[in-house]
Amino acid sequence: MGKQYSWSKDIQSTAILDCSRRLRFNDRNKQFWFDLIGVKDGMRVLEVGCGSGHFLQMLKKNFDIEAYGVDLDAGHIEYAKQSASQNGLDINFQVADIRDLPFDDNFFDVVYSYTVVEHLPFNDFITDQTRILKAGGRVVMMTVEAKQQAASEYDYMDEEIYAYFDGVVIDKPDNIGIYSPKPKDKLLGLNKYDFDNIKVEFKNLLYYCPDNYFDDVEFGLFEIDMARLSTIADAEFVLSHSTKDTKEADLCACVGNINKKFEKRKELFLSKTQVCDYQTTAVCAISGTKK
Ligand SMILES: C[S@@+](CC[C@H](N)C(=O)[O-])C[C@H]1O[C@@H](n2cnc3c(N)ncnc32)[C@H](O)[C@@H]1O
Repeated sequence: MGKQYSWSKDIQSTAILDCSRRLRFNDRNKQFWFDLIGVKDGMRVLEVGCGSGHFLQMLKKNFDIEAYGVDLDAGHIEYAKQSASQNGLDINFQVADIRDLPFDDNFFDVVYSYTVVEHLPFNDFITDQTRILKAGGRVVMMTVEAKQQAASEYDYMDEEIYAYFDGVVIDKPDNIGIYSPKPKDKLLGLNKYDFDNIKVEFKNLLYYCPDNYFDDVEFGLFEIDMARLSTIADAEFVLSHSTKDTKEADLCACVGNINKKFEKRKELFLSKTQVCDYQTTAVCAISGTKK
């Protein structure tokens, strides 16, 4: 990835990832995710680019698996280790690069990722995952997609179109995320790398909608609180990275307002007033089994 950067310091803090993921991967929608990953008891499972490790915690709570998580970012891994241990979950987290994974050949039954494939050239992303998967093992790459993307013969002119993205410098470290607009690489790439049973799934998930939980007050309040923490984490990150000379007082005021907003939201929820606020995500999961 060229220039060195720290994901948690330069792009997305661990707090942002963790709050947003606790909202997105939870007890009420876990089956949505389990269906995409295809994990079963007894498997050895690795998440690459695992961030704060919340997805792995959800798997480990529900399946009898040997669980591993790697991320290049030491801050994320430190957090992931502490959080799993506080929750009494035995998960092997370590700092490692997807391009040089510290595992034996043919070791894992499942290797999966969530919003990582778009940050590396596909060859760099998949080569070492292929090596450490057992024959018959499954790779699952999940990305968040705004719309369905064309592949195969429908990628007419894509080369030319996406050539314009090559070398584009965006105002973030190391062109994060620029590898996503190449449908052919992601959708058809796997068959060049020793995989078959290649499958593309596309699912929508509603992951925040407190109005739906007037009958489950605890869950509705959980959603509101996660949204609050996530908004605060975002604000802290943005303000601390702003080129403006942001004062501690500005941040306090901003966080104060966010808290007020969500206190009001709680009141409305508890009085069963419809607000109709919601958040959704679309997930594209591309999977295949190693030949
Ligand atoms: C958008 S975040 C997603 C994190 C996590 N999957 C989640 O959804 O919370 C992308 C993650 O990929 C990690 N990453 C990027 N390049 C990597 C590499 N070459 N090796 C390992 N991890 C990498 C980043 O450090 C970051 O944690």
